[in-house]
Amino acid sequence: MRANVRILLVGEPQVGKTSLIMSLVSEEFPEKVPARAEEITIPGDVTPERIPTHIIDYSASEQTEDELQDELDRAHVVCVVYDVNQENTIEKIPSKWIPLINSNCERENRIPVILVGNKSDLQGTSSMEMILPIMNQFTEIETCVECSAKNLKNISELFFYAQKAVLHPTAPLYSPEDKQKYCFRNPLSTQALEDVKTVVWKNTTDGILDDGLTLNGFLFLNMLFIQRGRHETTWTVLRKFGYDDNLELTDDYLHPPLRVPYDCTTELNQCTYLFLQRLFEKYDVDNDGVLSPIELKNLFSVFPYFPWGPEVFNTVCTDKRGWITLHGYLCHWTFTAYLDVHHCIEYLGYLGYTTIMEQESQTAAITVTRGKKLDLEKGQTQRNVFLCKVIGPKGTGKTAFLQAFLGRSLELQSKMGGDLCDFTINTVQINDQDKYLILHEVDVDTEFLKASNAVCDVACLMYDITDAKSFNYCAGIYKEHYMESRVPCVFVASKADLPEQKQEHGITPVEFCYKHRLPAPFHFSSNDTASTSQIYSRLALVAAIPDLNEAELSASSFWLRVTLGATITTFLALALYKALVRHK
Ligand code: GTP
Ligand code: MG
Repeated sequence: MRANVRILLVGEPQVGKTSLIMSLVSEEFPEKVPARAEEITIPGDVTPERIPTHIIDYSASEQTEDELQDELDRAHVVCVVYDVNQENTIEKIPSKWIPLINSNCERENRIPVILVGNKSDLQGTSSMEMILPIMNQFTEIETCVECSAKNLKNISELFFYAQKAVLHPTAPLYSPEDKQKYCFRNPLSTQALEDVKTVVWKNTTDGILDDGLTLNGFLFLNMLFIQRGRHETTWTVLRKFGYDDNLELTDDYLHPPLRVPYDCTTELNQCTYLFLQRLFEKYDVDNDGVLSPIELKNLFSVFPYFPWGPEVFNTVCTDKRGWITLHGYLCHWTFTAYLDVHHCIEYLGYLGYTTIMEQESQTAAITVTRGKKLDLEKGQTQRNVFLCKVIGPKGTGKTAFLQAFLGRSLELQSKMGGDLCDFTINTVQINDQDKYLILHEVDVDTEFLKASNAVCDVACLMYDITDAKSFNYCAGIYKEHYMESRVPCVFVASKADLPEQKQEHGITPVEFCYKHRLPAPFHFSSNDTASTSQIYSRLALVAAIPDLNEAELSASSFWLRVTLGATITTFLALALYKALVRHK
């Protein structure tokens, strides 16, 4: 945003420019004024937008045309003042003032203009009838105000509009010509646009605001089209936005084809995160950083069904009330894009992604990553989302481990209640970058039957230290599915706060890991969620760098001791990994 704002007042002699400035400053109408007021600076802390503002007067009786041009070049916004009772001062707006202000500028560089109708205290009829066609003719006119220096009416509003025109300009956001081209493939003539707005303005009380159609104005206009047999106009708009004859979004629009080759995954790109974040902020009306049930309902009000089930609140981070945070919301979108990309694309369609982001189709929101095989060959990945399977016998504590990833202790979990889901997702830092890690719990006994169930970026094999049979299960799964694969594995010993049972397996878990060149089992206790964060970091790290276990353990015996004893820090691990890769 700009550091300051320069507002210049121009207009025919005697319309009241100097009086307006003096009235603003002294808050009373000055009977006698000089031809030209001194430049005024309003400090930032008293202006509505908190930006220092300079107000500059102009008087033809004191200044040359060159001096005027000079001031125009320096101005950020120009108020063209006219006298509401003097038609000739209005006629000069299109014939003299606007061309003078913007004749040399490209469309996108035009200085915004505000039309100011002064002396409304003497007014017979409104000047709007004459002003609206002028506003329609020149897109750089942001708005118009009628005011009175004498009655002090609308004076501060006028300067507020001027500030706003500089700080929040309409031009880049809204261009009637471009929108028209989008729907009808040809531009709307200035005259036609003007006629349209005049009709709406005459027939509605709230159809036009700030020179644009309001929702009511738009609905009125379409009603008019339909009443006059011009249905095709309304249909053209509806079809362009993806609606079919039953007023349902078409399949072509909702489900554009997206090819995801085997071995590749799907993620949201940066622009999509911005789009989703803006949407969150729009619906978070009380600005508290979470979506209340009502706010969430409103966000999805454009959907024919509610896309999220009750398990969502146990899948991502929420506040203590169970309301979804911005972080949790973005995590959930990431989750959907990764595991169910076609629904994700459909949802973006309901949210008007293509229109708002000016994209051909929702597929532009998705990045299809490089195949995993290639990533492994190259020894690096661009991916931001990784899938971890948490595998272990029933009752091991997998759900507690998944919930602890959302920062929830056992006590909090029982308090929150709600439907549980086999997934949780959160972010983990790898080398100062946030990466998404999805945990998916899998029961060894019931679900782990097919080899394809083993596919993931990292396997977290979990056994219960209080159950002597438990490690044997995990060792079996490891040998059957992972020993020969390139999926990295991490063993986790759960219920670490309870007394340990000797595991009924030939060798101890630590020896087993050593033999298979894996780091020693990590200890997890759901009563101590703080210390478990290193396990999640480790899972994400080996998911991103699958050869890490191998790399660390092939290094010197010093590293061996470090990795078997505790976790190696992320930074060291990465540095080591890079060094090893370089020397290969
Ligand atoms: P130049 O400096 O000559 O360009 O004129 P100006 O636009 O600065 O006008 P100025 O402020 O000198 O006002 C011109 C006359 O209009 C003065 O007599 C003012 O008292 C009178 N005037 C200004 N504003 C109002 C108003 O809101 N209502 C009424 N009734 N008279 C006004
Ligand atoms: Mg003056």
